[in-house]
Amino acid sequence: MSAFSPEQIVVLGQSPTPFYCYDLKLLQQTLDTVKSESGKYGFHVHYAMKANVEDEVLELIRSAGFGADCVSGGEVEKALRAGFSAAQVVFAGVGKSDAEIIAALRDDIFCFNCESIPEIEIINEHALTLGKKARIALRINPNVHANTHHYITTGLEENKFGIGVNELPAVLDVIKLCEAISLIGLHFHIGSQITDLNVFKQLCVRVNEIQEWFVSRKISIQIINVGGGLGVNYYEPDKERIPDFAAYFKVFKRFLEIRNGQEVHFELGRAIVAQSGTLISRALFVKKGVQTQFAVLDAGMTELIRPALYQAYHKVENLTATPGSKSERYDVVGPVCESSDCFGKAMELHTIKRGDIIAIRTAGAYGSVMASHYNLRQLNPPVFLK
Ligand code: LLP
Repeated sequence: MSAFSPEQIVVLGQSPTPFYCYDLKLLQQTLDTVKSESGKYGFHVHYAMKANVEDEVLELIRSAGFGADCVSGGEVEKALRAGFSAAQVVFAGVGKSDAEIIAALRDDIFCFNCESIPEIEIINEHALTLGKKARIALRINPNVHANTHHYITTGLEENKFGIGVNELPAVLDVIKLCEAISLIGLHFHIGSQITDLNVFKQLCVRVNEIQEWFVSRKISIQIINVGGGLGVNYYEPDKERIPDFAAYFKVFKRFLEIRNGQEVHFELGRAIVAQSGTLISRALFVKKGVQTQFAVLDAGMTELIRPALYQAYHKVENLTATPGSKSERYDVVGPVCESSDCFGKAMELHTIKRGDIIAIRTAGAYGSVMASHYNLRQLNPPVFLK
């Protein structure tokens, strides 16, 4: 059983490959679920723009009432152009440039998630010059292991992200001297593609301890931002089209000590958009190797770099296999001049023939946004299934 109907496969076959295809119905159902499950506890969700910035995708997310979590001036600008209100935009990132800070201050965005003392000082300087008050949250590195790929682990002491707990007294001293800074929140993000909910429980325990430290100094914190990171099922996308948001939010309700009047914010990217995106390609050649056969596709690491970069698994399907055809093993590779340009080794697929339409699933997050022009390759425009 394919995730696409025969009629949809005909539509997909009419567009030049490779391209990304988005199932907007599934995205809407996912957004409805996030909204109802987070709404049960009054939680606020900002969509992590870095996962996908297609206009049609942003439009649905904005209409659902979520805010935007941005990590560059380009993303802030895109969020505002997409219609997110400045009051719903947060700006994170370990290396914000002066131009990015000034533009965000001029736009009156809701909050800067700050990652170091020098950054706080620079934001203060620019805010003073512009006659603005900058709201900030401190991104604290909680030293919690996310149990995910080391490239997408962010909450350990060895990572470049966040302010170490031992630095907090010095940070507070600096903030006291910064007239144009208003501390409104604490921010945490420990990593991405986290499938073990126990990791989030550990995060809550750590956040509670850190919050206690602020309370004991009579500093009240309006917002606790616990970041994003909820993982998706790459192996069996049809079993879990919508991630278990109910269980995810429940962990925070249960284990996070939320003080009176305090807001809890989330920054979810992958879990919102991953399953609704598919990379569609065509089989160019089936080539005999010594120990295996290669299915050479017209999509490669330039369109979806996750397998090459993180050894990530994406389910591959032959959408136009001859009915009843047997399964064979293929190394599924792209056309790019790199041996890492491989979607998977010895993948079992229905017999592939030249011209078959091949789907690479669960590619809606960190797919098109990470595409490159290496080898002067060009991605075709996306197709939206409504
Ligand atoms: N907040 C912050 C501060 C982040 O750094 C990230 C992701 C998120 C929120 C959203 O995390 P999510 O809910 O999507 O897990 N390119 C990698 C993922 C990099 C994630 C970077 N930060 C991949 O393809 O797996």
